[in-house]
Amino acid sequence: MATDTKQDAIALLKADHRTVEELFEKFESAKGAGAKQKIAQQICLELTVHAQIEEEIFYPACEGKIEEDLLKEAYVEHDGAKVLIAEIEAGGPDDDYYDAKVKVLSEQIEHHVEEEEKRMEGMFAQARHAGLDMDALGEQLRARKDELVATYKAGGLPKPETTTFTEATI
Ligand SMILES: [Fe+2]
Ligand SMILES: [Fe+2]
Repeated sequence: MATDTKQDAIALLKADHRTVEELFEKFESAKGAGAKQKIAQQICLELTVHAQIEEEIFYPACEGKIEEDLLKEAYVEHDGAKVLIAEIEAGGPDDDYYDAKVKVLSEQIEHHVEEEEKRMEGMFAQARHAGLDMDALGEQLRARKDELVATYKAGGLPKPETTTFTEATI
């Protein structure tokens, strides 16, 4: 959703994390196939946009400024999530494994978010310490996010593009 309030990059990305956590909780307590599917689709949209703006804007800005292993793992974690997101997006609550897929996605995201937000050594802490221009990055992230949300709401989610996986998997 568009907003006029300025957020620095980390505040924006953390707010996205909180939104998705709330949606996962809502999914857990939702009753009925229709309600569950609606929430799951919202999770897929939020996570797709979030991963994309991180990969297009935030992660490249971190390149060479934070621990390389951490950044590489983040890309692979995103790719793992994209596979599950595509599964959830294509399926529905009548899929025997639907709830399990959403649950496992939430667990993977929980781990990934911790790697990004961990105090002192997490990705965001390292990026802050490296002196990235968080205000400028925040503006870029916000603009791209608004654009992608509008595109995907109108045309649906694109086929997932993984950054690190080989052709063998998708
Ligand atoms: Fe994130
Ligand atoms: Fe991420």
